Amino acid sequence: MLDADKIKALEAEYVLHTYNRPPYVLERGEGVWLYDTEGKAYLDFVSGIAVNALGHSHPAVVQAIAEQAARLDHVSNLYHTAPQAQLAQMLVQNSFADKVFYCNSGAESVEAAIKFARKWGRTHHGNAKTDFITLSGAFHGRTLGALALTPRDYYQDPFRPLMPGTKLATFNDLASVEAQIDEHTCAIIVEPLQGEGGVHAATPEFLRGLRELCDRNDALLIYDEVQCGLGRTGTLWGHEPSGVLPDIMTLAKPIAGGLPMGCTLMTQAVADTIEPGDHASTFAGSPIVSAAAIASFQIISEPSFLEHVRWCGSYLEAGLLKLQESHDCIQQVRGRGLIWGVECNTAVTPALNVATEQGLLALNAGPNVLRLLPPLIIEQEHMDRALTILDQAFGAL
Ligand SMILES: Cc1ncc(COP(=O)(O)O)c(C=O)c1O
Repeated sequence: MLDADKIKALEAEYVLHTYNRPPYVLERGEGVWLYDTEGKAYLDFVSGIAVNALGHSHPAVVQAIAEQAARLDHVSNLYHTAPQAQLAQMLVQNSFADKVFYCNSGAESVEAAIKFARKWGRTHHGNAKTDFITLSGAFHGRTLGALALTPRDYYQDPFRPLMPGTKLATFNDLASVEAQIDEHTCAIIVEPLQGEGGVHAATPEFLRGLRELCDRNDALLIYDEVQCGLGRTGTLWGHEPSGVLPDIMTLAKPIAGGLPMGCTLMTQAVADTIEPGDHASTFAGSPIVSAAAIASFQIISEPSFLEHVRWCGSYLEAGLLKLQESHDCIQQVRGRGLIWGVECNTAVTPALNVATEQGLLALNAGPNVLRLLPPLIIEQEHMDRALTILDQAFGAL
């Protein structure tokens, strides 16, 4: 068994340095808890950045993976297999969509959305309808197409030139979108609730306005629900409270209980423009990953489970608002379900460090926002413990 120092030395020598990591090494997870190599326990309010919706090693997911791995692990998408067909049926029957495309990550699901929107545009309107409108604060991923839709110089500048034909408008400001949309626009992409951008929800009026603008200009509306979808906000889909439906929707993070999967959902009108060979992926929708996703989806889509998320969300919100009363550094508490952002008047890193010391993992969303993304299976006792630790943590700011 390798000790923490040896693991970090190996990593420093052999793994490309693209992440700045804390000094401890995580070794084991169970439910809402993570344990490092020294045996220290951490309450996990990061959840692999919204991946571990069912916590770590949920028995139903573990069983589904083990059974499927023993029966049929991977075959190419050249062949039919049952799990991906069954999962697609579940996703379609529980959403606006008619068809599902499988891939392996959030960025890939956005890349697929870009390609499908372009193909739809070209099929119906010729070569001039290829542009996208993205919104301030958006995060859609790091691959080159998704990066072009992620309007932050810090992410984009080292990798220019980016995909051309991308226009920027202001989140929750319909007039700014109206000023950008024209006959060349094939799609607007929006997160119904921005995660990386600081935990900001799109207003129902904004989403309704985007829908109308798209319809008037023959453009598609794409929702990126990679972070806010699948129960995170207390409803199955982040856009549900608005009642406004998209033409395409991207999913990833929590969908396969911790295994890598992305999905791009679409209406029949979009699907009708896609042909065999237009897009593909070697690993996508493999039997093991799809089996894990089915097990996970069956739990998350239960009305009583979503009710639990909403109850926890209200409890956590009340606790955070109480903390705001006693900590002047807290400017605003915002979120829904089990995604919360606490905006402070200063950088939150010292608070995150105190929380870690005290056994609570949380993260940021921009320098001044402390973000909480607990597993959706948390209970009151976990929230009470987290709030006690956060009380000390905000005291450090
Ligand atoms: C809304 C949204 N879209 C896309 C992505 C990219 O996902 P991935 O890191 O799996 O490529 C993220 C990741 O944080 C995200 O939050």
